[in-house]
Amino acid sequence: MKRTSVREILSGELLGKKVTVAGWIRTRRDSKGGFSFLELNDGSCLKNLQIIAQEQLSNYRSELLKLHPGASIVAEGSLLESPAAGQSFELKADSIRVLGFCEPLEYPLGKSRISFERLRELAHLRARTNTFGAVARLRNVLSDATHQFFQSRDFLYFHAPIITSSDCEGAGEMFQVTHLDLENLPRDPESGKIDYKQDFFGKATKLTVSGQLEAETYACALGNVYTFGPTFRAENSNTARHLAEFWMIEPEMAFADLGDIAALAEDYLRHLFQEALKRCPEDLKFFNDRIEKGLLDKLESLAEAKFTRLSYTEAIKLLEKNSDKFSFKPHWGIDLQSEHERYLAEQLFKGPVIVMDYPKEIKAFYMRLNDDNKTVAAMDVLLPQVGEIIGGSQREERLALLETRIIEAGMQPADYWWYCDLRRFGSVPHAGFGLGFERMVRFCSGMANIRDVIPFPRTPQSAEF
Ligand code: 4AD
Ligand code: MG
Repeated sequence: MKRTSVREILSGELLGKKVTVAGWIRTRRDSKGGFSFLELNDGSCLKNLQIIAQEQLSNYRSELLKLHPGASIVAEGSLLESPAAGQSFELKADSIRVLGFCEPLEYPLGKSRISFERLRELAHLRARTNTFGAVARLRNVLSDATHQFFQSRDFLYFHAPIITSSDCEGAGEMFQVTHLDLENLPRDPESGKIDYKQDFFGKATKLTVSGQLEAETYACALGNVYTFGPTFRAENSNTARHLAEFWMIEPEMAFADLGDIAALAEDYLRHLFQEALKRCPEDLKFFNDRIEKGLLDKLESLAEAKFTRLSYTEAIKLLEKNSDKFSFKPHWGIDLQSEHERYLAEQLFKGPVIVMDYPKEIKAFYMRLNDDNKTVAAMDVLLPQVGEIIGGSQREERLALLETRIIEAGMQPADYWWYCDLRRFGSVPHAGFGLGFERMVRFCSGMANIRDVIPFPRTPQSAEF
């Protein structure tokens, strides 16, 4: 079928032409004059196309008067200028073919407004609503803009493995992958421990929490690379900003230090805001009107924003001065809590903030030790409302120091032999970061809950569909 999208039609070039459109009915209104108005949405844009069905159509009474919201049709006809307010074109149908009827008493997306919570239970249908259609289009643009940004800078797209035996963040929050019969586990006769040699991969394996370690191997051969793929965390966090399965973008640069990737992070974030504004004006206006007042102003100011950079130590001093504002009291050595991060970005600096050089005890083993022996070359990028959007670091490129840090983290250098090899054979300074894609989509749409910016959210106690 050669069909024209509603988006293309509303762009205005096709006036007076014959076109074929296909989509789902949003509403039907019957007029006394012997015709009906059908509002058609095909997902290509927020707006519907109005179709005029006259009673002369052969199936007008037998079929078209039985069309209800959710029904699918193909319509052919001429595009005319619309006399109605709020729309510029309408389709006067020569024929309308019904593809699938939709029973109004059974269809859950009738006319009444449905809460986002309820729509999560209808995730197979929610893309047909205005909000979730807009989120899907924004998500698509942000992901395309990501590739565009890194490709235009000659970064190579690296596909990280999903199944892995290394725990990148060392936080023990990994989902196990096994082919063993859980009802009948093979055990080592002496120790009584599960014998993973008999498992599919001959060892214990997990779903990856980050593609970073593997991406480093390619950066240390090919220069600049980035991943963009799913990552998994078995953290039991029931919050509006945590998912058990989320998508991460992880650039990794060879011959680079912390300052280089902080600059990259700034450019990348500004690029995403600019592209969203440029390519999703209609959907962003919808979010601005319906989901978050002031969203457009926020994105426009961030698209040009300078980021404030400060050290963790400076940040703690500032937070300590305002200690009474927090339920978790700040002092040197703590991991920054969401309330601290938001206070820095929202109240103190009123814009994006990059905090650098965190205490080594609270950060992952691979981060480069600073000369003070107390802090590592880590950074977190904080945005108003969300707090941490990016975490990154310069990597420890000195073998002896890396091995010490692995042991301090309670792990064995032998298990990371290949990672250590990168430091044995032509080690180079390198650095990278990870951006949580859903946190970005949430921020740009103003959606309150991260579960509503990924098609099928995976969270504790929930993996329907
Ligand atoms: O700070 P994180 O844990 O950093 C890493 O995984 C590094 N290996 C990245 C790197 O240097 N290549 O995670 C990076 C980002 C966070 O800043 C956050 O935006 C997002 O991933 N993130 C989550 N997003 C949704 N749900 C979760 N459970 C998330 N955990 C982290
Ligand atoms: Mg982090």
